[in-house]
Amino acid sequence: EIRPLVAGNWKMNGTRSALPQIKAIAEGIEGPLGAKLDVLLCPPSTLLYVATALCDESPLLIGAQDCHQQVSGAHTGDVSAEMIADCFGTHVIVGHSERRKDHAETDHLVRAKAEAAHAAELTAIVCIGETGDERSAGQALDVLKRQLDGSLPDGLTAQNTVIAYEPVWAIGTGVTPTPDDVKAAHAFIRAELTSRFAEEGARTRILYGGSVNPRNAATLMAIDNVDGCLVGGASLKAEDFLAIYRVY
Ligand code: 13P
Repeated sequence: EIRPLVAGNWKMNGTRSALPQIKAIAEGIEGPLGAKLDVLLCPPSTLLYVATALCDESPLLIGAQDCHQQVSGAHTGDVSAEMIADCFGTHVIVGHSERRKDHAETDHLVRAKAEAAHAAELTAIVCIGETGDERSAGQALDVLKRQLDGSLPDGLTAQNTVIAYEPVWAIGTGVTPTPDDVKAAHAFIRAELTSRFAEEGARTRILYGGSVNPRNAATLMAIDNVDGCLVGGASLKAEDFLAIYRVY
């Protein structure tokens, strides 16, 4: 049995005025259901430290949305994995499609970032997913294979890494793949993980992301090999995020 993870990615949204939302999420997951799964929120890095302070007594985990591949140095504007750990973050998203696109991040770089996360004892949430054009061309699984091969460090364990399958065309569009397509993608990812990482790969969490909302979450989360979700827009409101959490 893989323990599910419901994760929120606030992207470049959220100022101090959003702190009550974090508080509401933290309070909303107290109780017996919260003991059955992990809940993580990744606010922008400006809110990281205050968010972990706010969640000090709560089961809500706090993570970051990106890290630099190096520990420190002349990298203006970047944040290291060690800095995230220093702010009591436990997870970091790496290789999100928005960073692959906006910052031309390659699989090779994403792998280096995941390694940096591991060195700082953070769990890396490694994002993969095909574009709409790649899917139309029948290349979706080839793309996933290339991204998995290139982005995952050899030191992957079920504890230090989470995979997030986020079809690019499903992000922020309100469109999701059919349950059969999600099932096929996650089964493929599971097979790849198990073939390379054996037992650790068999137990690694595979999240689905892309237009998850309170209405479609129950269907998506019930699919084989879907071990939770990475939620963008619907994680901004505590009420919506908690409704997704409650499908478990
Ligand atoms: P949406 O839930 O807004 O589609 O975003 C998904 C995502 O990119 C999470 O990382």
